[in-house]
Amino acid sequence: MPITVTPLSERFGAEISGVDITQPLDEATQAEIRAAQDKWGVTFWRNTGLDDASHVAFSRIFGKVELAPVHKGKAPRFSEPELFDASNVDAEGKIIDNPMRRFINAGNRLWHIDSSYMDVRSAQALLLCHSSPPVKAPTQFADARSAYDDLPQAMKDRIDGLQARHCYFYSRMKAGYPTTEEELDTMPHATQPVVLDHVASVRKSLYLGNHARDIVGMDREEGRALIEELNDWVTQDRYVIEVDYQPGDMSIWDNLCCYHRAGDFDDTAYARDMRRTTIREAGVEAADDHFTTMFAASKRKAEPATQE
Ligand code: OGA
Ligand code: MN
Repeated sequence: MPITVTPLSERFGAEISGVDITQPLDEATQAEIRAAQDKWGVTFWRNTGLDDASHVAFSRIFGKVELAPVHKGKAPRFSEPELFDASNVDAEGKIIDNPMRRFINAGNRLWHIDSSYMDVRSAQALLLCHSSPPVKAPTQFADARSAYDDLPQAMKDRIDGLQARHCYFYSRMKAGYPTTEEELDTMPHATQPVVLDHVASVRKSLYLGNHARDIVGMDREEGRALIEELNDWVTQDRYVIEVDYQPGDMSIWDNLCCYHRAGDFDDTAYARDMRRTTIREAGVEAADDHFTTMFAASKRKAEPATQE
């Protein structure tokens, strides 16, 4: 079945229509969807008709679907273990007012790459809207491949071969979560190339975002200045698109070639129920529960005893 691909900007992002993704798809259609995703980096799908089960089933066309972290003492909201909770509501559908959890969500409003703090990188993320606030609450995406392409040659030479250390709670600290550099030192980090080969499109991409804490082999101040300079470069208006959701709409982004952030809205006033599946980078072997392991190892001493 030929799909309809409508670009959202010249080089980045496309809306896809003309295919019912609640049903199993033939090989040719799956291949077309994957090719569009690899080319455009972000795809947007309106009024999908997906529910939790068909969301997970459709996700499998992209590869291995990760298991969401299980937090001790906290029952998940969904029966599918592959669904990551990207909402601001609790199991009863009530808006979460725990300030610590709100800092965690505030971290999502900083430009980031999902799982860059994990050794096992994530490729596509499929974020499905179940309920949206009556105000704009979009997701913004930045084209990290074109941003790399457009860098001055001197900067390309400077960053060639560099690596960065990424830490989940570093971005949360930046969003106001009460922790310290010393506490972060005890938490898991992942080392990632600053310039990542985007294998699926045979292009290169900048791979930093706000989980990136230090550049390996550079002193902290110099490394952070470089991270900030490159993050600012990627997130210039000319590389950014945004999409807003009605229930049933879904965005799919490839973490290996774009940054993203959640749009700002009053998350104490309005519920926003978003659920996400996450595809593991192709060709990588790892235990199934590595998200659970990572979060369990991120000891949050500042967390009140009532949490988790
Ligand atoms: C995510 C995320 C953005 C949003 O789920 O990883 O960053 O708009 N979401 O909810
Ligand atoms: Mn994210």
